[in-house]
Amino acid sequence: MKQLINRTVCTMYLCIISASGAFAQNTGLTGTLAPTPPMGWNSWNTFQTRIDEPLLKGMVDAYVSSGMRDAGYQYFTLDDGWMAMERDGQGNLIADPKKFPDGMKAFADYVHSKGLKFGLYNCAGTKTCAGYPGSRGHEYQDALLYASWGVDFLKYDWCNTDSLNAREAYITMSSALKATKRPILFSLCEWGGHQPWNWKGIGEMYRTTGDISAKFTRSVLRIADKQIPIRKYNGPNHWNDPDMLEVGNGMTVAEDRAHFSLWCMLAAPLVSGNDLRKMTEQTRLFLTNKDMIAIDQDERGISAFKMPLTADSVDLWVKPLKNNTLAFCMLNRSSKTQKVTFKWSDLMIADNQTDLDIKFADTVYNLYDVWAAKKSGSTKGTFNRDIASHDVVVLKLEK
Ligand code: GLA
Repeated sequence: MKQLINRTVCTMYLCIISASGAFAQNTGLTGTLAPTPPMGWNSWNTFQTRIDEPLLKGMVDAYVSSGMRDAGYQYFTLDDGWMAMERDGQGNLIADPKKFPDGMKAFADYVHSKGLKFGLYNCAGTKTCAGYPGSRGHEYQDALLYASWGVDFLKYDWCNTDSLNAREAYITMSSALKATKRPILFSLCEWGGHQPWNWKGIGEMYRTTGDISAKFTRSVLRIADKQIPIRKYNGPNHWNDPDMLEVGNGMTVAEDRAHFSLWCMLAAPLVSGNDLRKMTEQTRLFLTNKDMIAIDQDERGISAFKMPLTADSVDLWVKPLKNNTLAFCMLNRSSKTQKVTFKWSDLMIADNQTDLDIKFADTVYNLYDVWAAKKSGSTKGTFNRDIASHDVVVLKLEK
């Protein structure tokens, strides 16, 4: 009885808050499909629109044989370019018959048969960014079609939208997906222009920036830094999405390690964008590192904050984790190796968002070096390491 009363009060409270407009308006669309950051693969970063069934079936097979699925990656998503250039006579989208001779349902069945979930791409505008038919005016029709094919994930872009109201356009598609009654994770790709991180409850992940590229300083670091001021909006079922991974797409080994580490520190969705059939063992080991993935997937869903360290151009990124543990990522942004030396007892960290307030002079933590995969002493002594250009050291701290 007591529980029942509490629940009623709580429900009323939410209604009052919502009606006052203090929070994002309660649309009744709250996403529930991503308690931890979604993990998957997407075709865009490597193949753009050059996708077809044989290539993608090979990719699905590699997804499984490489251990990506078993490491926690779940979604297999076709980005732009899967459609024919025109809708059919009834206004339905059709898969490009040359690229997908067996149709999209058959391809979705193949993905599902390997224990994966299936994702597709479309756009809120009249056309997608690559000029294929967009969903504008066809939202409910398209959502029903996706559900009939067995789609589990929709990435929804923002090209060719003229004067559309962004939030309303995304609510329309979100409602259309909900109306199908099939659980379809909604990945909003609005690029951050209308501050979609404020739109609670429309989907599960919200792109925060323009497109990533495999350029460490110009793209990866720039995007990572932009996530810091909006970190408080990140959390279960509403993930800030700093775009898909470029690991294995041409950066150096150190840069790939740093890129993957930063995305995990940010509790970002981990959507790999490399050719899984041809990845090097090094790339595979980065993408499937279970300690790094556990940091990303930590149930608290808190995004890292950062602070300067004594060494030139070295940041310390800090991610509070469950059970009062922490992840530290020391990042050398410069083009030279940097020596990082400090006495742990001189270090203090505080975070208003999570009420974190640690003086290492008072509390001792044991250290685990994630990339070296070994214990690394404790915070009793001195930290003293050389960190190569564009590389990271990631530590897990446990009392
Ligand atoms: C936009 C998106 C990309 C990709 C392309 C496809 O640029 O931001 O992630 O989906 O469109 O055309």
